[in-house]
Amino acid sequence: MTLPHSDQPAADALVLFGATGDLAKRKLFPALYQLERTGLLKVPVIGVARSDWTDQAFCEHAEEAIVAADAHADAAVIGPLKQRLDLIQGDYSHQSTWEELRDTLDRHGSKHAVYYMAIPPSMFPVVAQQLASVGLNQRGRIVVEKPFGRDLPSAQELNQTLAKVFPEERIFRIDHYLGKESVEDLLVFRFSNALLEPVWNRRYVRSVQVTMSETIGVEGRGSFYDGVGAIRDVLQNHLLQVVALLAMEPPAGADSQYLQDEKAKVFAAMRPIEPDDLVRGQYVGYRDEHGVDPNSDVETFAACRLEIDSWRWAGVPWYVRVGKGLAESATEAVVEFQRPPRLLFDEAGGPPPGRNLVRFRLGKQDGVTFALQAKTPGPHLDSQEVDISVDFAAALGERSAAYERLLGDALAGSPRRFARQDIVEHTWSVIQPILDTPGPVHPYFRGSWGPSEAERILENEDTWYEPSS
Ligand code: BG6
Repeated sequence: MTLPHSDQPAADALVLFGATGDLAKRKLFPALYQLERTGLLKVPVIGVARSDWTDQAFCEHAEEAIVAADAHADAAVIGPLKQRLDLIQGDYSHQSTWEELRDTLDRHGSKHAVYYMAIPPSMFPVVAQQLASVGLNQRGRIVVEKPFGRDLPSAQELNQTLAKVFPEERIFRIDHYLGKESVEDLLVFRFSNALLEPVWNRRYVRSVQVTMSETIGVEGRGSFYDGVGAIRDVLQNHLLQVVALLAMEPPAGADSQYLQDEKAKVFAAMRPIEPDDLVRGQYVGYRDEHGVDPNSDVETFAACRLEIDSWRWAGVPWYVRVGKGLAESATEAVVEFQRPPRLLFDEAGGPPPGRNLVRFRLGKQDGVTFALQAKTPGPHLDSQEVDISVDFAAALGERSAAYERLLGDALAGSPRRFARQDIVEHTWSVIQPILDTPGPVHPYFRGSWGPSEAERILENEDTWYEPSS
């Protein structure tokens, strides 16, 4: 029997489309610096951009981006990284740009390049087709950034277009949450702590909440954000991936396909979200942001209830909440267990113990907190909540940033932390009803926890948990 093996050959060149753009500046050059520092970057880096820049200007731009991310960046690392850089300047619609790229890769003897699309999604098909026009699709893989479409039909269309040029195993779709150590820890924590598995199901779990809250607003990205909104920006991708990691069964083996298969089963069992199970909000002042339509009804907040109709989860509500301009910046998943009956040996008949919680902190200062019950001091046998908490950076040391890990994986040829086509399409199917019938947006003030209407989707006296960090 042959077991699946999804890994690809290691890359021998990195081609960065959109090399002079915002994503390259904020995320990719700092990630390349870290890969150079740790000895993992071994290939030439060829930027492609329409900007009319010299090689020297490109190198200076890269250095500025690295220093902006880390004021103590080491010149002894930046120097060799700059040696790797090359810029091809040209219009994506001109054949000469593609011939020059092919010749440059030939000069480097490249057979397995990584083509990183740090460009608007509307450009993905053009670039993919142009790569094919000079045969470069035969000798490399592409890395595409979210959003992968804006609804189910457009995601399917994009996948079909890319599939004409690259086979699925050579399309790496980035969702940077999958590159976060804290998010990946969900898998490790669940399946390496034997005490969790017996209770990780509908018999013991009462509800699960996932919150991603940001204090920032749209921060100069108004024109992008107003065409997208919170549901498409983060719920369809980052948050649903977190839900899948919390809900899935253990993968059958180490190969990436087994992990993807288990996630696919979660989404197959997830009911499409009904419009009644969604509340959208918009922070007051959003319509005055630069690039935003003054009459916009795009949401900057969304709260919804999900149901996963599987043997493990049927009947357990999953509450997901995302928003900008909120009271705190945090990403947290709270698993709430059933309340035990009252303590029968307490003669005074005190209140029943509170519910146990497992809180996964997935943002900055990631870690986990168990909220347990312990005896209240005094004559009675009452209990009160005590927290047992660990901060992973303090306990385990600093970990690498998401983009560094994902870029490293793309170069190494490991697809494990990328999103597979069927999963992307499943997630769009889950949210399609709320894209079709989104309902009104409710205003909320910045610094709050969103519109009070978000309480509406909670059942059984549930409440929203405020993040603990
Ligand atoms: C991005 C969204 O994917 O994730 C942004 O487009 C959001 O709107 C960002 O601010 C949040 O990422 P992180 O890693 O800071 O939680």
